[in-house]
Amino acid sequence: MKTTSTPGVDRSHPLAVVVVGASGDLALKKIFPALFALYCQDLLPTQFHIVGFARSEMTNDAFRARVEEKLTCRYVPGQQCDELMKNFLSRCTYVSGNYDSSDSYRQLHKELEHIKTDAPENRVFYMAIPPFLFLDVAHALHDAELVSDEKEQGWSRVVIEKPFGSDRATSDELTESMRQVFSENQTYRIDHYLGKEVIQNLLVLRFANLIFDPIWNRNHIKNVRISWTENLSLQGRAGYFDEYGIIRDVMQNHLLQMVALVAMEQPVALNSTYVRDEKVKALRAVKPIPLGDVVVAQYGPGAVNGKQHFGYLQEKGTPEGSITPTYAAAALKINNRRWDGVPFLIRAGKGMSDSKTEIRIRFQSMPGNIFAQAAKGLPENELVIQVQPDAGLTMRIVNRVPGLGIRLDETKLDLRYSSAFEGAIPDAYESLILDVIQGDKSLFIRADELEAAWDIFTPVLHELEAKNVEPESYEFGSGGPEAADALAARFGAKW
Ligand code: BG6
Repeated sequence: MKTTSTPGVDRSHPLAVVVVGASGDLALKKIFPALFALYCQDLLPTQFHIVGFARSEMTNDAFRARVEEKLTCRYVPGQQCDELMKNFLSRCTYVSGNYDSSDSYRQLHKELEHIKTDAPENRVFYMAIPPFLFLDVAHALHDAELVSDEKEQGWSRVVIEKPFGSDRATSDELTESMRQVFSENQTYRIDHYLGKEVIQNLLVLRFANLIFDPIWNRNHIKNVRISWTENLSLQGRAGYFDEYGIIRDVMQNHLLQMVALVAMEQPVALNSTYVRDEKVKALRAVKPIPLGDVVVAQYGPGAVNGKQHFGYLQEKGTPEGSITPTYAAAALKINNRRWDGVPFLIRAGKGMSDSKTEIRIRFQSMPGNIFAQAAKGLPENELVIQVQPDAGLTMRIVNRVPGLGIRLDETKLDLRYSSAFEGAIPDAYESLILDVIQGDKSLFIRADELEAAWDIFTPVLHELEAKNVEPESYEFGSGGPEAADALAARFGAKW
């Protein structure tokens, strides 16, 4: 969770946000709408400016029209919102150029210089571009003298998104080379799952509620399951996806972050160093996964809600005969006093029956249960943390069914965010971009955290590739391959 207690930035200091890759999906669907949402809530500095940069030639007006299409009035309805939109868009300008050309960024520099500010501005460079461009862009920005690390001149921060390399070695290489331009302190590695409301609540749930603390360990927890499913196909991203596959796309980052937050010890205090120290410790205690504890699979043709879908190999852009997994399940073991012997089962799949992310904590059965007879066949207690959709927390308990005999059943204590809390739940990017501006790094991936996460998956990824392991097959719109059910059953669990 973020460690800054009140939202708010130094509004008096001018800010420029440079979005490199401004015409792409990430920028248009997530970054600009998030910046607008912050603007609507008065969370951007009084003097701010947004410069979109990309290859395509576009006038400022054409750029603004593309940005406007994706803005929504979640925080301020009606006419007031139209007014805010107009003002927001007037602060957006566009520069086209080549990503690796310092001349193009000099043009951008000029653009920034035209904007009169009371003081040198702070700068956020958001790289909404594929990672193979990060380095060239960083150097070109540097050569155009856009990057500064001096407080008097205003700070510069860079935001980058995964994939950070494709294994431990390539990730280290990227980290090292980016450091030639941006120090670790200036670097904000996003994992957008950390900005999701329910994920930010994990530390609150664990460390602000006494009831969970004494039972959050191997003595009381039987297994932890983290499941991420999407009932979607590749959505035009076949080129990227086929190179990376589901383990690198979702498991090594989003799922491992959830593992870390469930497994970590309490940080010394709520600050970004201590929080991340504990996450790193938890990740370092995860043993490298043996091939036998991993299932990989690829979807074949099938249907969701009556709509027919191609199989992975028939999708536009997937190479013939590709064995890239669209589904993976793995059993993680954490070698420390709290978790020894408790399997953490994680799975991620595209082309499944529904889109859902949840964390399930299954407790041990009741020792010496005097209701054993009546409770026969009922599952053990379970805490379900539903990340999306329909954010919520559910505790599954055994309860007496009202009536004259003794009849027990499983019932739910249910907290739904939609009914428990008023107001819009912020999008993950709103929360994270605000943190970048505020300089709160607790929700960003530190270099050693990235290393620890890659160490968990690198050996098995290499083995899968060296052995050309053929993925199992599952139907699009199904619950995944049988082999994954068998893996969970081996650890006494069910997905
Ligand atoms: C991205 C993955 O990181 O997360 C995508 O690259 C995936 O493959 C997406 O679809 C899911 O994000 P969300 O927020 O929609 O669950």
